[in-house]
Amino acid sequence: MNLSGKRIILGVTGSIAAYKSALLTRLLIKSGAEVQVIMSASALDFITPLTLATLSKRPVMSDFSNKNSGEWHNHVELGLWADLFILAPLSANTLSKFANGICDNLLTATYLSSRCPVMLAPAMDLDMYQHPSVTSNLDKVASFGNIILDAESGELASGLSGQGRMMEPEHILEHVYHFFSPKLDFKGKKVMVTLGPTQEALDPVRFISNHSSGKMGMAIAKAFQIQGAEVFVVSGPVSLDLKSENFHLYPVHSASEMYQAAKSIHGQMDICVFAAAVADYAPAEVAKEKIKKQESELTLHLKKNVDIALELGKVKSPNQIHVGFALETENGEANARGKLEKKNFDLVVLNSAKEEGAGFRHDTNKVKIFHRNGKEVQSDLLPKSRIAELILREVKNVPVWI
Ligand code: PMT
Repeated sequence: MNLSGKRIILGVTGSIAAYKSALLTRLLIKSGAEVQVIMSASALDFITPLTLATLSKRPVMSDFSNKNSGEWHNHVELGLWADLFILAPLSANTLSKFANGICDNLLTATYLSSRCPVMLAPAMDLDMYQHPSVTSNLDKVASFGNIILDAESGELASGLSGQGRMMEPEHILEHVYHFFSPKLDFKGKKVMVTLGPTQEALDPVRFISNHSSGKMGMAIAKAFQIQGAEVFVVSGPVSLDLKSENFHLYPVHSASEMYQAAKSIHGQMDICVFAAAVADYAPAEVAKEKIKKQESELTLHLKKNVDIALELGKVKSPNQIHVGFALETENGEANARGKLEKKNFDLVVLNSAKEEGAGFRHDTNKVKIFHRNGKEVQSDLLPKSRIAELILREVKNVPVWI
């Protein structure tokens, strides 16, 4: 995409990921954007202004005035000049200033003066990124309308491994492209996503369930929404903040409740994605009172649950698309192809419960997507948001869609 005519402020703060801002500057300039870099004082310890000035073809600003020339850097003018303000990398320190209106340097003053949309690409160490003060600051700036470019997972500068790495510059560039020219390929489409686990009650205090966090389904729901769809989420119990998203939300507990909710809206849907990890069995009877500890063993009698995807697959109309998942620990490909046929899916997304970084709870996943016509697409280990984009791309390749 061509970004010519687009004016972008790139704010760089003190983080080891500051070296990536050089590549981001280069990518933005190569795409035709005008880029004004503003560095915080601590960013200067990580990368030289000379590098960023050379790449951006403009002097870098880091203070209210240029001490040598006496020139004043007007943060209000800067804030009004830009079409987009990207903070990459964003440190925990500057994030907390943004969240609380602290204005003690050129970067924070420009943030407060900007009328343009703001994209924030945090970069932190594992435990910092998960700290409640950081997560609540991220929630707070998201509530101001700032776009959060979630940190990616991988090896961190500390040697720890997990989420905290600044989003790769190429991925940030895609968000910038999308921002200036949103792809609304699913505008006018209604999409149902089932997500999370189901809980099958044993008695008033216990249930059978699984490890699904709902993250994969949530990423898919968000991706459809970003591309213009009206999204209906049928969710098992998860700790994700689904309410603050603009979904039609159907919270359920058991497989049978999930089936009832999904069935009630299925007829109106253009696309259904079955990302939930539905319990295949439930206790045959739910004890009215808490089951007392037995002397030795306790035998549970389980009954088979309804298979939601299978049942809705039977009533699927020719212009509806069903996307299923297959979570396997062995014979993945054969099982995935079997599910494609048996459940009348148009696509099946195979993921492994055994592969490092994939499947339940992780922020990343690695999948293989199977089409009915035999086409197969293998992904790398990627953030679930990127896997979701890949799934949407393949939905567009389903013949019904074309
Ligand atoms: O939620 P996360 O922590 O992010 O983890 C994501 C995930 C691993 C849960 C997700 O990627 C995934 O694989 N979901 C499907 C898990 C599963 O139940 O797979 P399955 O192979 O048992 O089921 C096959 C398909 O039938 C699935 O689309 C499932 O939603 C559907 N199904 C299964 C049983 C049932 N009773 N009703 C169903 O609709």
